[in-house]
Amino acid sequence: MSKFRTERVLSVHHWTDTLFSFKTTRDPGLRFKNGHFIMIGLEVDSRPLMRAYSIASPNYEDTMEFYSIKVPDGPLTSRLQHIKEGDNIIVSSKPTGTLVLDNVLSGRNLYLLSTGTGLAPFISIIQDPETYERFDKVILTHGCRWVRELAYQKLITEDLPDHEYFGEQVREQLIYYPTVTREPYRNEGRLSDLMSNGKLFEDIGLPKPNLEDDRFMLCGSPAMLKDLTAILDDWGFEESRQGIQGHYAIERAFVEK
Ligand code: A2P
Repeated sequence: MSKFRTERVLSVHHWTDTLFSFKTTRDPGLRFKNGHFIMIGLEVDSRPLMRAYSIASPNYEDTMEFYSIKVPDGPLTSRLQHIKEGDNIIVSSKPTGTLVLDNVLSGRNLYLLSTGTGLAPFISIIQDPETYERFDKVILTHGCRWVRELAYQKLITEDLPDHEYFGEQVREQLIYYPTVTREPYRNEGRLSDLMSNGKLFEDIGLPKPNLEDDRFMLCGSPAMLKDLTAILDDWGFEESRQGIQGHYAIERAFVEK
C-alpha cells in the first residue's frame, strides 16, 4: 500500500465559526482501533501538508469522520475549513496511537476526559460495544470555553441511547458530563479543578476514584494533559507505557515534546 491515499469528502458540518467536522470515504482495507489517529491533509504547493487527527467514527463504519478546529493562520486548518462535499483529502495508510481500550486495565468505571477537539477519539470509543462490555460505567466529560462548543450533544444524548444494537447499554452505562468555563452552564469549571475538588464525582454520584475500580483515557491540549496526568499521578494511578496496560492512557503523539 502506498503511503498516502486520496479520500473524498462526503459531508461537512460547521458547529461554530471555529469548529467543524467532516465525513470522508474510507478505503475498505484501512484497519484501525477505536481511539486511533491518522495523518490527514491537503496538497499545498504540490506537497502533502499533513496533521494528526483522531478518527471520530467507529471502526465498523464504512466512512470516516474527523473533528477539527479552524485556526485562521493555521497552515492546514486555514485551508481545510473550506473543504466541501466532493473535494479530496489525503489520508495516510497507517492509523496508530496509544489512546485505545487495549492499553487500559479492566475496572469498574472508565473516565473519558476531554477538552475541546479532544472529544474526537471518544466519539469513536463510545460507539464501540466493547467499551460497555469491559466497564460498568463510562463517563464522558467534555470541557469547553463556551456552551456552543459542546459538539456532538445530539449524538451522545439522543442518537446513541436510541441505537438499535447498544442503545440500552448506552442508556444504562454512559454518563455524559459537559462543563463550560467562560459562561454560565449547568456544570462549570475546568476538569482539573472539578477533579481536585471532587465536584465531578459528587455530581455524577460516583466515589472518588481508587486504583481498584477506576480507569481513565485523556485527550486535550498539552496543558490539559499535563494538569490532569499530574492529578492522576498524585493519586497513584499509572500510565500505560509501551503497550503495557495501565490505569490511564493518553495519546503520546499529542503530548508536547
Ligand atoms: P479555560 O476557559 O479556563 O481556559 P482550549 O480551547 O484553550 O483548549 O480550552 C478548552 C477548555 O479546556 C476550556 O474550557 C479551558 O478552560 C479548558 N482548559 C484549558 N487548559 C486547561 C488545563 N490545563 N486543565 C484543564 N482544563 C483546561
